[in-house]
Amino acid sequence: MLRLDDLHPLMSGNKVFKLLPNLVAANASGARGILTFGGAFSNHIHATAAAGEYFAMPTVGVIRASPEASVNPTLSDAKGWGMQLHFVDRAEYRRRHDLDYWQELNGLYPEYVIIPEGGGNALARQGCVELGQYIGEQMWRHIVVACGTGTTAEGVALGVSPQQKVHAVGVLPGLKQEQQRLEAAGAAFWGDDVGAGYALLTPALVDFIRRFESLNRVQLDPVYTAKMALAASRAIASGRLDPAQTLLVHSGGLQGRRGLQAQLDAHWRDNPACT
Ligand SMILES: Cc1ncc(COP(=O)(O)O)c(C=O)c1O
Repeated sequence: MLRLDDLHPLMSGNKVFKLLPNLVAANASGARGILTFGGAFSNHIHATAAAGEYFAMPTVGVIRASPEASVNPTLSDAKGWGMQLHFVDRAEYRRRHDLDYWQELNGLYPEYVIIPEGGGNALARQGCVELGQYIGEQMWRHIVVACGTGTTAEGVALGVSPQQKVHAVGVLPGLKQEQQRLEAAGAAFWGDDVGAGYALLTPALVDFIRRFESLNRVQLDPVYTAKMALAASRAIASGRLDPAQTLLVHSGGLQGRRGLQAQLDAHWRDNPACT
């Protein structure tokens, strides 16, 4: 396992590769700050706020939640690091990809660079190409990566060596466009491991987290890395992947687990046999 969760205490995992090129570009362009989007437990919002504090770059988070959500640990951290939280309802959040909405936001926050939800833009992909090049210098034949926007897996697939194959594990249904982009970049896309949907826990996933953590002493986040590791372990069990040639990428996200920990604990309490 490539422990990107250990890279930095606050800006961990794939966020380091996705955000840093964006911060460098924003700084070079003389931008006043960075504005981005996310849900109330978003890893991307958390990491953007941490990066903003670290590099003294003002940040705004457009959050799909009501202001009462700001008492959760993710948003409390973000606020504590100086991120301005801009709460919107679901209807407004649906406009997050529209150019006219970005223009309205730029009217409110002039000279802020806007980064899309999940940090999935070309600069982020380029940062992940560098991650792929690093992996490309190693002996692993198969690289397994969790896929949300697909930016991380696509960049890694573009950066690895020709002998290596990236397997992108979708964590939510309906990633058709992402699948096409990933396959064009040479990656395989695994779409059967989404479980009950984005951020929804199944008993099999929660049992797996417990077993994996007690065996390996490595924490997983239930939304991304646990699904990735479960998919990989099923592929290994069925002989589709050789464990001696396989690298799992731990893309971080452990901060988001705080929103799901109560559900994990309740399941483990009610199902002690799964240990
Ligand atoms: C911990 C974690 N792993 C994996 C991903 C998926 O990355 P991507 O959106 O680039 O596919 C995310 C989302 O950004 C994430 O927070």
